[in-house]
Amino acid sequence: MTVTNGEAPKPALYGVGDAKNASTANWVPVLSGSAMNPNVKNVQYAVRGPIVQKATKYDEMIKSGNGGDLPFGEVIKANIGDCQAMLQKPITFLRQVLSACLYPDLLDISPPVFPNDVIERAKEILGALPGGSLGSYSESTGHLYCRKIVKTFIETRDGYPADVNNVILSNGASEIIKLTLLTATFGVGKGRTGVMIPIPQYPLYSATISEIGAEKIDYYLDEEDKWSLSIDELAKSFKEAQDYCTPRVLCVINPGNPTGQVLKRENIDEIIKFAAEHQLVLMADEVYQDNVYDADSEFCSFKKALMELPQYKDRLELVSFHSMSKGFMGECGIRGGYAEFINFDSEVMTELKKLKSAQLCSAVSGQVALSIVLNPPKPGEESYELFMNERSAVLGTLKSKSVKVHDLFSRMPGMRVNPIMGAMYCFPRIELPQKAIDEAKEAGVAPDAFYVEKLLESTGICVVPGSGFGQLPDTYHFRTTILPPEDKIEAMLKKFEEFHVGFIEQYK
Ligand SMILES: Cc1ncc(COP(=O)(O)O)c(C=O)c1O
Repeated sequence: MTVTNGEAPKPALYGVGDAKNASTANWVPVLSGSAMNPNVKNVQYAVRGPIVQKATKYDEMIKSGNGGDLPFGEVIKANIGDCQAMLQKPITFLRQVLSACLYPDLLDISPPVFPNDVIERAKEILGALPGGSLGSYSESTGHLYCRKIVKTFIETRDGYPADVNNVILSNGASEIIKLTLLTATFGVGKGRTGVMIPIPQYPLYSATISEIGAEKIDYYLDEEDKWSLSIDELAKSFKEAQDYCTPRVLCVINPGNPTGQVLKRENIDEIIKFAAEHQLVLMADEVYQDNVYDADSEFCSFKKALMELPQYKDRLELVSFHSMSKGFMGECGIRGGYAEFINFDSEVMTELKKLKSAQLCSAVSGQVALSIVLNPPKPGEESYELFMNERSAVLGTLKSKSVKVHDLFSRMPGMRVNPIMGAMYCFPRIELPQKAIDEAKEAGVAPDAFYVEKLLESTGICVVPGSGFGQLPDTYHFRTTILPPEDKIEAMLKKFEEFHVGFIEQYK
């Protein structure tokens, strides 16, 4: 090589320039299964896992006319809490205001296509958005107009002040749950943050803990006592975890997913005291707060309970999550959620907000939709009656389905089920015959995954194995939603029962 100007040759910018090396035959990708972030590989999310993928394949086969060999004509997806995918009707007021905000020309049509209160609300929202458009960015933490509505919603619900600066809007609750866990995770070895999660749990928590490399600390809910949360169990798991990490976060899901329990007020108070006395940040996942069916249960927010414990109210970091994906709205795809942070250090809030700002902002359509459902029509307004009727119809149907699902599973042989007090799921325990357990183990799958796969293959019903949520060793469960439409749920449960009886007979 000739160096003409006396400088050392520069390395080639675009590879070696040798035709042989540059050919794709010798090309090795930088990333592969053994060369990638191991935390990402450790993430597991059963709610959309291999059984669901198989169900999706069957569904595609049926829809494309190739399902002739399958022993069922329809796949029933009871695996995921996606209300509208299960034909729940959206709330009219919400969709009308949102439509008008997305396409303001609808507001000028004469005679008007929407009731007056819809038109007024849409104009109020558009007037508050930059450029009067849903297509513009908002502040990173969410548009002030929407955060003010969240503040008023919380204050009305709990009777205690909230601060717009402590509210962060997000793409569903999932995003801000992840950002909170990320912010709380630091340290190495025994100093690494430990996150206490209920078992069984909603797998967003275990998945995020794996992704960010925090330490997972399991505490078991008590199946023998309607999935209650025992403080002794919290204390035991906290103590054991101190051998390998520093517990810093306690996650509680109320009402519970997948377990459907609703915490009693005294229990909430005890949890608050435990968290404060053990220097834990309390993350309260309250996305199912509207979904309480049990006559003896009532939702109480952790914020309200904290405010009513004077000795703790200023000495516990509490963050509460809510979402429009659940409740009577079921707007999972619109992606609206929020978190309220209480007693967080101002520097931590600044850092959290910085994380949000690096993503610009959450979807403004989701923020606006959340503001509409948290500020529904008032008595005397044109849409009030319809709104109330739709709301109670959805919640009434969910309640009646929760009873049907519970009753059917409780009368099946070898199946035990706790009452569905709230949320949208039933989590029965199955006594699997030893022969089925042995066969599953031989095939290298969890016994409840084996059961659930056989269920799918013979009935088209898709549920999630309990192993995806965590469970006591040598116990087996599955999670089904209570969401399939009323006219289908009877038939689904009947098919399920036939399968179950046949399965037990086959493997007994
Ligand atoms: C307990 C719990 N928390 C959070 C979420 C996340 O909901 P989203 O991100 O849709 O608001 C879900 C969704 O099913 C859930 O069950």
